[in-house]
Amino acid sequence: SLPIWLDCDPGHDDAMAIVLAGYNSKLNLLGISTCHGNQSHDKTLRNAALFVKAAGLTNIRIIPGQDKPIMRKSLAAPDIHGESGLDGTHEMPVFDPRFINDSEKAVPYLSRLLLQAPTPVTLVATGPLTNYGLLLTLYPEVIPKIKKIVFMGGSIGPGNYSAAAEFNILVDPEAAHIVFNSGVHVCMVPLEVSHTAIVTDRVLEQLDTRCKSSPFSRLVIELLLFFKKTYEEVFQFNQGPPLHDPCTIAYLIAPEIFTVKTMGVDVVTDNGPCLGQTVCDIYGRTSYPKIDVTMTMDPDAFFRLMLDAWVKADGQ
Ligand code: BDR
Ligand code: CA
Repeated sequence: SLPIWLDCDPGHDDAMAIVLAGYNSKLNLLGISTCHGNQSHDKTLRNAALFVKAAGLTNIRIIPGQDKPIMRKSLAAPDIHGESGLDGTHEMPVFDPRFINDSEKAVPYLSRLLLQAPTPVTLVATGPLTNYGLLLTLYPEVIPKIKKIVFMGGSIGPGNYSAAAEFNILVDPEAAHIVFNSGVHVCMVPLEVSHTAIVTDRVLEQLDTRCKSSPFSRLVIELLLFFKKTYEEVFQFNQGPPLHDPCTIAYLIAPEIFTVKTMGVDVVTDNGPCLGQTVCDIYGRTSYPKIDVTMTMDPDAFFRLMLDAWVKADGQ
């Protein structure tokens, strides 16, 4: 199976990326690191530990990452994910600090893990790119040990946090700039794809029917209903909330359900209305760094993978 590392900022959809990565036999989830993003880092770290326990992924190590962007102040998205960063459920287990390995921060930890890895590792990011941006800056010797970096973020067209920018990129545009220019094989899963991963009422019904109403499946349903409500309020998404982050994991499990186009992509780091925009050169007019951009995904196939993972976690 494919060795992967997941850097995330849970976050409702990040939590679902954790389940999908932890419960698919094609992937070997080596561990999780956390980043500031949807909430402050102390909250996203706590959420990762709570959720990993709830999902029965008790052998997964969680390593704390950076608590702020490389050059800017943190942003957060309480309007989408609530004050805790993972609001909406009463089924969360009691916090257990033993799930967190805080003897070392994620960036030095990952440098050692990669250098010692027998084969190159795929790095996934579902939050701002701060940890990977610093890793590539401080430890460029790890580059040959990175198979690729797959991240959720950016957009070809409009943004979701500003008119031009997607949240993960806007939070730390300098980190994204470093990653894009690192020479590592980079794959972007933009809003155009993640906005097709809609948790419709039909998906919720299937989840309800196929799971046996364990505390875990109740927790997932409650989290998804909270996410549905905030997406209705903030974005007027009335069909259901988009499950952005697990699309990255689905891409690694089943690349055949995506279409991909390689193109030049630059990120705007100048302050102004376009800060954090991913400028996608569809017609090949520039020498921007070349990135694989996923263009489409089959949502039914995506939710089949997601449901299998929820059912497996439910049976734990
Ligand atoms: C991204 O922003 C966060 O709120 C989500 O977790 C996702 O990673 C979508 O723009
Ligand atoms: Ca996220």
